[in-house]
Amino acid sequence: MKRSKVVDVFNSEINHTEILVKGWVRTFRSNRFIALNDGSTINNLQCVVDFENTKEDTLKKIATGAAVSLKGVLVESSGKGQSVELKVSEIIILGESDPEKYPLQPKKHSLEFLREIAHLRPRTNLFGAIMRVRHTLAFAVHQYFNEKGFFYYNAPIVTGSDAEGAGEMFQVTNLNLKDIPKTEEGNVDFSQDFFGKATNLTVSGQLEAETAAMALGQVYTFGPTFRAENSNTSRHLAEFWMIEPEMAFVELDENMDIAEEFIKYIIKYALDHRKEDLEFLDQRFAQEEKTKPTKDRQDMGLIEKLNFILDNNFKRVSYTEAIDILKASKPNKKGKFKYKIEEWGADLQSEHERFLVEKHFKQPVILFDYPAKIKAFYMRLNDDGNTVRAMDILFPGIGEIVGGSQREERLDVLMQKVEELGVDKEELWWYIDTRKYGTAPHSGFGLGFERIIQFVTGMGNIRDVIPFPRTPQNAEF
Ligand code: 4AD
Ligand code: MG
Repeated sequence: MKRSKVVDVFNSEINHTEILVKGWVRTFRSNRFIALNDGSTINNLQCVVDFENTKEDTLKKIATGAAVSLKGVLVESSGKGQSVELKVSEIIILGESDPEKYPLQPKKHSLEFLREIAHLRPRTNLFGAIMRVRHTLAFAVHQYFNEKGFFYYNAPIVTGSDAEGAGEMFQVTNLNLKDIPKTEEGNVDFSQDFFGKATNLTVSGQLEAETAAMALGQVYTFGPTFRAENSNTSRHLAEFWMIEPEMAFVELDENMDIAEEFIKYIIKYALDHRKEDLEFLDQRFAQEEKTKPTKDRQDMGLIEKLNFILDNNFKRVSYTEAIDILKASKPNKKGKFKYKIEEWGADLQSEHERFLVEKHFKQPVILFDYPAKIKAFYMRLNDDGNTVRAMDILFPGIGEIVGGSQREERLDVLMQKVEELGVDKEELWWYIDTRKYGTAPHSGFGLGFERIIQFVTGMGNIRDVIPFPRTPQNAEF
């Protein structure tokens, strides 16, 4: 008999024929009621065991965590909380579990504890829901770009370049670290390394995506990126996934339009296709909020917040306007910011971004035209000579969710920047080439995938929206 998935069982008619389901026992009550979950939905199927006609030994093995195969007839349920239940006629224990030792007891566990058992946490309602939402958002990303005629382009993971110029890279090498070959000058001799040069894990696929945009018109990357920044925050990972569209003949305003449309599209897709999981997360969010002091609580529920995003335009504000607002703000004057905003040119910290979004505008904000000094070398210089065509999208509760810009397509201006910032032009010869052969205005942005998942699921810590988080001092599993 073919196995039915629990999600399909709930959507099917009761026709009194026998079905087969397989999954894991969440709980087993009164030697009679199995709550069965197979991952296809957050909802457990209640399965009623005929304990009088079931072997003692089998009954003993139906324990929390065990994998079972159950045959039976689907009937209307008399119990409250479920519409249907399975009247079990055959039980096969596929995999036993010791209920005494099983780390996931049927009770509330802390998120910190669950991180220590990341191999088991998808078996909880919470992490099952988060991972299904993660999948659905990823699917929506591909669907959006496919509908818009973008091509999925794969940038390399191993690269010689540092796209963001921040020097926060993980080295890739197979040199013997106990016996590193040296050049005559005493430097590491990378010519003897696997690739014959120094390489690292990519911090961004943007530069490669730019080369593709100059051929295919509209492309996007969606892959893992790596940053060796030592920030132990609730919004930083050393390994995270980024979505980076890149578009020829698109300038900054249109870049902002597309970013906003894209974010709304994937949020709407999740709302439409992950209703049950989001309702569960919405309830959890409300409970979490209740445990916070009133002043720290968010005004809106989770689903309400997601709908608010769909229904309102993101507020577009120039960096210069933002600095004026911040300078004049109460927390700045009262010394409440860790980093006081003194003058134009200051880099914005997440406390400033969150003030703008959560306290001042109370809606998502797109900041644009940043000082050239605080942004990457590839951003297009404005005519004022001081600012670049950058844009960051800031979200409530998260801060920066997107970073993007119009790119510097003029060879002479780009080369001046490369010189000024000491960018390795030998390494980036191929990037510079694109400005020599048919250069054209183009733009793009990067959406941090885990940050948008945090927003959609309402999870406070980024470590809880990726299966196996990589953070400083932690690469378990
Ligand atoms: O602002 P960033 O550094 O921009 C870039 O990498 C550009 N190359 C993107 C582009 O224009 N194609 O990173 C983009 C986004 C951030 O806004 C943030 O959402 C996310 O990536 N991000 C991180 N997410 C988790 N952990 C980290 N350490 C992150 N660093 C950046
Ligand atoms: Mg950024």
